Amino acid sequence: MELQAVERSYARWAPVYDRTFGAVTQVGRRRATALLGELGGSVLEVGVGTGLALPHYDRRVIVTGVDYSAEMLDKARAKVAAERLQNVVALHRMDARKLDFPDHSFDHVAAMHVISVVPEPEKVMSEIARVLRPGGSVVLVNHFAGQRGALALAERVAAPLADLLGWHSDFDRSRVLGETSLTLEEEYTLPPLGMMTLMRLVKAR
Ligand SMILES: C[S@@+](CC[C@H](N)C(=O)[O-])C[C@H]1O[C@@H](n2cnc3c(N)ncnc32)[C@H](O)[C@@H]1O
Repeated sequence: MELQAVERSYARWAPVYDRTFGAVTQVGRRRATALLGELGGSVLEVGVGTGLALPHYDRRVIVTGVDYSAEMLDKARAKVAAERLQNVVALHRMDARKLDFPDHSFDHVAAMHVISVVPEPEKVMSEIARVLRPGGSVVLVNHFAGQRGALALAERVAAPLADLLGWHSDFDRSRVLGETSLTLEEEYTLPPLGMMTLMRLVKAR
């Protein structure tokens, strides 16, 4: 999907996101933020969207968020203000393919329901690896292609609608595993129905 298509799609999604896709995918955000709370330190959340994960971080975790959609970011800013999330230190409008941070800026990076949305996911993974400190973790939550039966059929049906949905339903997990500095440390599927997967990759020291 091109960036302009992402922008258009998420301008439409922003007003209803928290009550639709956002509401049915909370398990992944809760698991990922709990894991990042255990790891501690600073976190860059790539594709922070409306900020649904932000209230769930341990308040000792220092969070920076980036997203390309101004409308989604407005919602995230409103949550930070309403819930007085002082540990969320910055929310920037930024293309994840070109992160405006120096190398090794963050202890950990999170990307939830993002990597199958961005144009050029391999480039995004490379940027994530660059801004991550050696020994730091990348926590991904995403739906990957490959489920059997009804889910596989739903993936194939939804695939041509990617630009409208703002989401690729048939995204192959190998596309996030090509970054040589990152090693897959853990991976498991999440309820409900195992439709989403949580992965943790660790950067070489
Ligand atoms: C499905 S939403 C997920 C939002 C949030 N992570 C969550 O769990 O609810 C995908 C987000 O990725 C953002 N996005 C897509 N491509 C991007 C890019 N190249 N750079 C930054 N953000 C991007 C979209 O604007 C959207 O907010």
